[in-house]
Amino acid sequence: MTELQITMLIHLIGLGMLFTMLLSGIIFTAQYAKAPDYKSKATILKAMRPIGLLSPLAIVVMLASGLGNWHSMGWFQEGWLHIKITLFFAAAILGTIFGIRAKKRGGIIMKLADGSAPEGAADQVAAIDRQFRIFYIVQSILLFSILFLSVVKPGRGF
Ligand code: HEM
Repeated sequence: MTELQITMLIHLIGLGMLFTMLLSGIIFTAQYAKAPDYKSKATILKAMRPIGLLSPLAIVVMLASGLGNWHSMGWFQEGWLHIKITLFFAAAILGTIFGIRAKKRGGIIMKLADGSAPEGAADQVAAIDRQFRIFYIVQSILLFSILFLSVVKPGRGF
């Protein structure tokens, strides 16, 4: 196997991880929204946690294998790759911000579930839930744009 084949294989494994995480995040979030009480919501959020914890690994895998691909191909300079890398960092930063938000929401939901939450906690959760709905839409658009740029490579002569 060539260096490019190895890094591309790892790149595509990372791609599978990212899309699995996005889709399962959307499915779990829909279940969480439908859950009838805070105890059920807390259980669903606990089940979601390992998916969130995998995201730093997915970011490292994509970045390392992407740089590996690029190195094997001689550090070529093309506009679509520059835009792709910029969108990748935007998605990674957004994902990190919402990872922190998810932790905060989990803590409040636990308190709401055991009745020890302070006044206004339910409103705080509702606000974070709304932000998460927008997050999943933006993150899906970013990931599909990255995928589009990777496959179509606009501007490359072929
Ligand atoms: C969410 C993040 C990413 C996704 C979904 C993604 C997806 C892909 C896909 C599907 C391919 C195969 C395209 C093909 O063979 O036609 C590819 C190739 C490649 N990726 Fe990524 N990638 C991501 C991040 C990155 C990053 C961060 C870098 C660079 C630092 C990078 C650099 C490359 C390079 C150099 C290639 C080879 C392009 C070529 O064939 O000319 N990728 N990527």
